[in-house]
Amino acid sequence: QTRVLTVDPLNPQAEVIAEAAKVIRSGGLVAFPTETVYGLGANAYDPQAATRIFLAKGRPSDNPLIVHIADKEQLFEVATEVPEKALEIAEVFWPGPLTIILRKTDKIPPQTTGGLDTVAIRMPAHPVALQLIKESGVPIAAPSANRSGKPSPTTASHVVEDLFGVVELILDGGNVFFGVESTVVDLTKEPPILYRPGPLGPEDLEKYLGRVELPDVARGMVFAEKAMAPGMKYRHYAPEKKLLVVEKRSELDNVVRLLANRMDVALLASKETINALKGIPKCNIELGSSSDLYEIAKNLFGAFRALDKSECQVGVMEPFPERGIGLAIMNRARKASGMAIIKKVEDVWKYVQ
Ligand code: TXA
Ligand code: MG
Repeated sequence: QTRVLTVDPLNPQAEVIAEAAKVIRSGGLVAFPTETVYGLGANAYDPQAATRIFLAKGRPSDNPLIVHIADKEQLFEVATEVPEKALEIAEVFWPGPLTIILRKTDKIPPQTTGGLDTVAIRMPAHPVALQLIKESGVPIAAPSANRSGKPSPTTASHVVEDLFGVVELILDGGNVFFGVESTVVDLTKEPPILYRPGPLGPEDLEKYLGRVELPDVARGMVFAEKAMAPGMKYRHYAPEKKLLVVEKRSELDNVVRLLANRMDVALLASKETINALKGIPKCNIELGSSSDLYEIAKNLFGAFRALDKSECQVGVMEPFPERGIGLAIMNRARKASGMAIIKKVEDVWKYVQ
């Protein structure tokens, strides 16, 4: 039995938070909004509760969870050997969309970290998330609240689609603020490794950390052959329909025209591009204005879900500049496409007949 409760995202009602905290303390699962995407939360100290997260998502048990905290004191409950630079970037970016990997304490059970001796930690900037953690009195382990292999949820309706019936409670706080998952950086390595770009890019971190390594997998250009981090070997965010990501904006028109001759094409693009190509693709899935990469990011995962629901067979996505949050947009798009990356028009025949 799943309950859905509406919550005010900016001034969460105390009684709603209290309900949700009760579920967390009793070992249950609560889906809740964060500033990045919706999370599927459970008590991070409770091995059974952590195990239930994996079952609910259908997630491989060696893919570790992120532990969410509400204040700096909790950092030292969950992490040990915390280096100075971790404190520095926490000071700058927390609460916010930054996840740091540190050595874990014994309070965090292996179920939460997929058996690793490191733990991913983040202090979210969403009032609902922060108050839920505070009221629960424990850190909350939470991956994105999607079924494994689906795009991360950016509205409560996405969570309902994926997890209704398998979680106790879904808090509906409306749309998230960013729409792509947090930036993940491993501070147990020297130089630190950026596993996943998010709202913060390498430029943001390098101001404080010095050189940060950005592996090709983090750009989404290749599949991880050997997983640098456990989650990297799994295919993420995959729509069921074929998605092609065009690499050069100048090739987009030709790709869309070529495919539209043969099949029903969905164009995932900015409203400017959609206007420019009006009448050529059969379906249009608008991502927002090309002048606002934050808007594009916010609509991205919803667009992947819309592609699956559309009457079109294949999606073609416009490329966006890889600066700031644009790097995360392209990383998610390339992964969603299963690396169906179109560099020149003829490449399309590698992926569609
Ligand atoms: O924005 C977000 O980060 C959202 C919200 C709910 O906070 N959460 C999220 O969690 O995206 P999830 O589980 O979908 O992604 C966490 C990523 C995975 O790729 C996982 O493999 C990696 O972080 N990760 C977690 N712990 C790790 C560790 N100890 N070492 C390396 N990678 C780790
Ligand atoms: Mg996820």
